[in-house]
Amino acid sequence: MQARRRAVATENGCIGALPETTDLDHDGTGEPMAIDLRREQEATLARASYTYSPLTRVFIASMDLVAGRETTTAKAKMLEVLAGIPYNAWERQEQALLGSRDRQTVEGRRRLIRWAREARDNENLHLEVLAERMRQQGEPDPWFLVQPMRFGAELFYILFANTLAAADMRQAFQFNAEFEDHAEHAYAQFAADHPEWDDEPANGPAVRRYSESTGTELTTWGDVVRRIALDERDHMNRSFVAAGKPDQVVEYEGMPEPAVDPCR
Ligand SMILES: [Fe+2]
Ligand SMILES: [Fe+2]
Repeated sequence: MQARRRAVATENGCIGALPETTDLDHDGTGEPMAIDLRREQEATLARASYTYSPLTRVFIASMDLVAGRETTTAKAKMLEVLAGIPYNAWERQEQALLGSRDRQTVEGRRRLIRWAREARDNENLHLEVLAERMRQQGEPDPWFLVQPMRFGAELFYILFANTLAAADMRQAFQFNAEFEDHAEHAYAQFAADHPEWDDEPANGPAVRRYSESTGTELTTWGDVVRRIALDERDHMNRSFVAAGKPDQVVEYEGMPEPAVDPCR
């Protein structure tokens, strides 16, 4: 199955006024729209990865060098330790710039701040779910997730994300879109490599919180991993919109509208 890149009428890379927060009631019934996680996983696997920039390729190669090429729960946890950092950097930067007198600009910044908070909270839930899974499995953190390595990786990425955001926000959005595309493919393949997870019940407080937050019934560990993959696609879509590339959005049934207006 081939996922569709979205064809959006654009003017200077902008898509006009967009919703301020994620609306899960996509079909107007008052209930979150059911999403076929298996179908979307197949769509991800059938879709080639985006052609990454040299910077993103170096970043992915560095992750592989530290945590191994194969996706493991521990490597995914490392990914999630880092994933919320750019959103946090954008939120703090935009908050510091809110003093502008231009009302349109202020509204755009507020929308970006709301999206960044929402995405960061979602990434934190991914981290909590993976940490809970490792605890349930009795799997200890490997060397790259214990101090001082974990702190070193976080510090490096904080400096990188803040520098990129201060230098060029469009480049920051573009890099993040590529990072999220990589994450989406990694999680979709991770679930495909473990068909036994479809018989493993998913339980625990973090999974329940995640299920409620996404409005998705998650009964097996396979579904949890597929749901994370789809969240990464949402993050990619919104990052591409913010980078002025709405044509790179990958649509699916039940998707939230990309919630950032890059015209600010
Ligand atoms: Fe994530
Ligand atoms: Fe993400």
